This record gives sequence, C-alpha cells and structure tokens, in this order.
Amino acid sequence: MKVLVIGAGGREHVIAHKLKQSPLVNEIFAIPGNDAMSKVAQVHSEIAETEHEQIVAFAQQHGITWAIIGPEQPLTEGLTDKLEAAQIKVFGPNRAAAQIEGSKLFAKELMKKYDIPTAEYTQITNKQDALTYIQSCEYPVVLKKDGLAAGKGVIIAESYEEALSGVEELYQEEEGIVVFEQFLEGEEFSLMTFVNNDYAVPFDCIAQDHKRAFDGDLGPNTGGMGAYCPVPHIEDSIIKRTNDEIAQPIAKALVNEGYSFFGVLYIGAIITDEGPKVIEFNARFGDPEAQVLLTRMESDLMQHILDLEAKKPIQFQWKVDSVVGVMLASKGYPANYEKGKTVSGFDLDGQYFVSGLKKEQDIYVTSGGRVILALGEGKDIASAKAKAYEAVDKIKSNALFYRKDISDKALK
Ligand code: AMP
Ligand code: GLY
Repeated sequence: MKVLVIGAGGREHVIAHKLKQSPLVNEIFAIPGNDAMSKVAQVHSEIAETEHEQIVAFAQQHGITWAIIGPEQPLTEGLTDKLEAAQIKVFGPNRAAAQIEGSKLFAKELMKKYDIPTAEYTQITNKQDALTYIQSCEYPVVLKKDGLAAGKGVIIAESYEEALSGVEELYQEEEGIVVFEQFLEGEEFSLMTFVNNDYAVPFDCIAQDHKRAFDGDLGPNTGGMGAYCPVPHIEDSIIKRTNDEIAQPIAKALVNEGYSFFGVLYIGAIITDEGPKVIEFNARFGDPEAQVLLTRMESDLMQHILDLEAKKPIQFQWKVDSVVGVMLASKGYPANYEKGKTVSGFDLDGQYFVSGLKKEQDIYVTSGGRVILALGEGKDIASAKAKAYEAVDKIKSNALFYRKDISDKALK
C-alpha cells in the first residue's frame, strides 16, 4: 500500500520512519516533507501543505491508499474533506471535527454541554468587555485567543497589569473572541487517543511535554521543548479516569453533535485536586510527543490505523524501554531567530527527528525555530535521559539551545 504523509516537521518525520518499518506499506511519500525525511520517504517539497488541489491530484496520480495528515492547519482547512471526496482514505479528521482544536470556544462549549472536566471559562468578544472583565476577575487568569496559534496564543496573567497587556496583545482589533479561563494548578500530561467516531482507544502509554522555553518551566510557551514516555509517576488510575471522564465522553459528544472524527485526538490534561481536567484538545498527534511515543511503539502504526478503521481491538505493544527526547531550537525561539546556520553531527537512523533543517548543497542548515529532536532510549527514564543528552552532545552547531531538565519531573 502507498501512504502519503502531509507535513514537514519532526512529527511527520517519525510517522514516515515508523511506516517504513511496516510490512503493510510499500511506498511512502511526503508533502512537503523535509530533506531529512528523504531517507524514508519520497519527498515532494514542490507542493505546499496549503495546496489542497495539488495534493489531491498528486494522491490520485500516485495511487495513494491512505493519507496521514500531521499538522493542524491542513486539518482545520479541510484537506481531509477534499481527499475523501476523491476516494482517498485519510487518517486525520475533517474540517468540522477538527474545530475541536481550531476553536477554543467550540471545545469549551462542547465540554460544558457534556460535563467534561475542564477549567471554568467566560468568552469575551470585544476589547471593551475584556477590559471590564479583568477589573474584577480572579487571578491568575488564562487568556486564550480563539483560533490556531501554534501554542503561542495563550497568556497566563498573574495580575491586572499582566492581563491588561494580554488584552492589548490579543485584541489587535476591537472585536475577536478570547476565552478567559480559570487557572488550574497541577501536573500536565498528554494522552493520544485513536478515535473513529464513538470508538475511542487511548494509548496505554502517556507522554509529558515541556512547553516552556527554559529550564524549570520558565520563559515563554513554545511548541514543545522535549518530551518523554512513559510517565512513571502518574498512576494508572489517573489514566483510567482520563479515559472514562474525558476520552470516551468527548468521542460520544462529537458523535451526538453530528461530527465524524477519524484520527488521533490529543488530550492535554492537568491533574487537579478534583482529578484530571482538560487543558486543550488537538486533532492530531502532539509534537514532540509523537517522536517519543512512536519510538517506543513496537507494534505497527499502519495496522493500528486499519484496526481503528474496522473498529477492531487495538493491541499496543511497547518496547520495555523509556524514551526521552530533547529539542534543539534556534537561539531566540519562540521569538525572533536567525536561519541558515549549519548543523551537523547527527545521523538519520531513528535517534534524531528533524523539524527545522534544510539541505544546502551537502550540508544541513537551520530553517525553523524548533530544529531537531535528539532521542535516548533506556531501561528507565534516568538512563534514557543520559542517552538523549549524549545524542545532544554529538550535534555540532553554535546556533541552537536546549533545556537541560527534560524528564526531570519523573526523576524526583
Ligand atoms: P494550550 O495552548 O491551551 O495548551 O496552553 C498552553 C499551556 O498553557 C498549557 O500547556 C498550560 O501549561 C498552560 N495553560 C493553559 N490553560 C491553562 C489553565 N487553565 N490553567 C493553567 N495553565 C494553563
Ligand atoms: N506538544 C504540544 C502540541 O503538539 O500541541
């Protein structure tokens, strides 16, 4: 079978790498992909993720059976709908169902209606009301702009002054929806759940991301600076509650409201005194969570997708090892950073996945904020962490930075 992977980041790199190991898959194509993916896929960077008509034409010409869509943008823009209209199977929800990620308000209203645990919220649609609201709300308060923001549309305001500058930032115009949310305290984790309408199968291995830019969870929010799995200090009972109270009810809620979701639903949860609550839903694999989870996954991803389609039991198999991944990012990210800086010292055999590098002549140079994830596997988190930082040390570049505390929450 021929499979097309849509996307250009580390998540798509690991998906292609994983598909390469599947006896079910003979050919792998990537649009737009990245240069590092050409070891495992036929990369077609001449087509952009946003060029839906060209993608459909490509899929038809190349006899693609399945398309796997990695990033949120093509999902929320309806690439799935277009491919499905051309009889191509797609792993990744259609435009309507992808609103669960594309609109914070859509997700919050759905959770409210179906009693799915999440932070209390108020929606505010213009700047004037927002300015009034922040005079009397409780602090800290969380401001979330409706719509996709690559992990950067969220502001945690500790005080009125911070909320004021947040309102100025999020309301570039007078109108616009911002969700003001109660601040929740607790440890966060990510649970990937395969969903085919009412059939929802959570991974029996969770991961933990590191969203802030700097050690000790300081600095601005990013797309993710590193991840690890499993998360040994989060008990199975929490994962079971997340399935019972969040994963199963949200799948049923979507069906009940007339949506058809096929793909992976990412549950970003936080463990509060009252149990796990939803911080966010995504309509796709997490990045970098996918890199650690699919590296640990022993079983066949393509087989899981086919089983999900047929609503058959999904039997995950995992390596006994733990996996830690450390993101190397361009200095300055998530704000301004330079591109075109040389990076070397890595191989492409499964220990590194690339999100922001391109080849110029024969050398790799930076082309994005998050650049490359270095992975380590070990019998426990401590040894996986040591291996991951050994892999970091092999990378030669003076243009990158990384966190030194990835997975430390599991080591305390
Ligand atoms: P989001 O884009 O919604 O995942 O938010 C990014 C990050 O902001 C989350 O991973 C949390 O660390 C933090 N955050 C978002 N919402 C809340 C909340 N209600 N309470 C505490 N932290 C939050
Ligand atoms: N790692 C968080 C995300 O993919 O949204």
